[in-house]
Amino acid sequence: MENHKNLEKKLTEWFEWFHRHPELSYEEYGTTDKIREVLTEAGVEILPCTLETGLVAIVRGVKEGPVQALRCDIDALPIREETNLPYASEYEGKMHACGHDFHITAGIGCAVLLNERKDELAGTVKIIFQPGEESSLGALKVLETDVMEDVERIWGIHADPTNEAGTLGIREGYVTAAVDRFVITVKGVGCHGAHPDDGIDPVPAAAGIIQALQTVVTRNINAFHPALLSVTRLTAGNTWNVIPEEAVLEGTVRTMSPEDRILFERRLREIAQGTAAAYGASAETEWIAGPPATYNDKRMAEACIWLAEKMGFAVVPEESSMGGDDFAFFEENILGCYIKVGTGKGQLIHQPGFCVDKRAILPAAEYLAELFM
Ligand code: NI
Repeated sequence: MENHKNLEKKLTEWFEWFHRHPELSYEEYGTTDKIREVLTEAGVEILPCTLETGLVAIVRGVKEGPVQALRCDIDALPIREETNLPYASEYEGKMHACGHDFHITAGIGCAVLLNERKDELAGTVKIIFQPGEESSLGALKVLETDVMEDVERIWGIHADPTNEAGTLGIREGYVTAAVDRFVITVKGVGCHGAHPDDGIDPVPAAAGIIQALQTVVTRNINAFHPALLSVTRLTAGNTWNVIPEEAVLEGTVRTMSPEDRILFERRLREIAQGTAAAYGASAETEWIAGPPATYNDKRMAEACIWLAEKMGFAVVPEESSMGGDDFAFFEENILGCYIKVGTGKGQLIHQPGFCVDKRAILPAAEYLAELFM
C-alpha cells in the first residue's frame, strides 16, 4: 500500500488545487488543462474528442470485456466561499460548493489506479470529466460527441455531507428527480387602476393559477409518488395605479416517474389555460424540459453494495433528492448507478461553508477502480 500512500499525497494536492481554482459551467478551461496535465503525467491516455471544456480519459484493459464509464462533473458555483480553509477559493465569488473538485480528484485517482492494473482489467473504462453539470445540461455536450456510443454501463458519484467519510449511500430505484421548468404568461387587458371594469386584470388570474397548480400534487399525482411544484418568480406591472396587461409566473416541477412527469405537464397547461379563461384572461405556457430522474439499476446497485461491504465501507440506503442531476441524460440509453460518497458531516452542498473531508478521496478512488476490475 506504499504506492497508495504516495497517490494519496498527490490526490490531496490536486484536490486542493481544484478547490482553489473553481470555474463555472462551460468556463472550466483551467480545470480541463490541469486534469489533462495530471493524467498525462501519470501515463493515462486521453481520448481525442470535441469537447470545448471537460475531457475523457480512457483505460484499455488487456483482456476482453465491456466498455464502461465513470462520470465526474467538474464545474463550480457562483457562491462566495466561507470556509476559512487554507486552500479556499482564489476566485472571488466562485466556489466548489457542490464537491465537484472531489469528483474530479476521485476520478483521476480511479484512472491512475486502473491504468496501473491494465493487465488485469477486462474491457475498457472511460472516465468522463463532464462540464456544466450545474447548468443541468452539460451531459448533453458529452452526448453530442461519439464518446458514449459504445458504453454499456455508467457510474456516477456525488459528495454527501450528511455522512462521514467511509460511508457510501447506495440504493436501487429513483434517487434524483426530473427537473423541469415552466413559464406561464397570463394575458389580460391593461387599464386605469381605478377602473378595473375597463380591462381584464391578469393579476387575480395569476394568483388563481398559483393556488390551483398545487392541486396537481394533491389531487392528480398518486399520493405515494414524490412530486412537487414551486412558483419561484412572479412579475406583473410597473407602478401602483395601472392594471398591467400581463403577469408572468415561472417555476420548477420535480417528479420521479416518467408517467408523473407527462401528467404534470398536461395538468399544468390545462390549469393555466382554464383558470385564466375563468377570469376572462388567457395564458400561454412554456414547458422547458431538463434532465429526467436518475434511476439506479437494480443489479448495478446490488454489485455496488456488495463491493462496498467487501471493502469495509459502511453502506447506508441512499437518500432520494428532489434535486436533479444531468447524469440522468446518460441513463436514457445506458444502464446507470449513482452513488453518494460520504465526505464528512457539515454544511450542505451549495452552501458557502460546505467542505469535503479529504480522507474520503483515496478510498473513493480505490472503490471506483475496483468497481471496474
Ligand atoms: Ni453536484
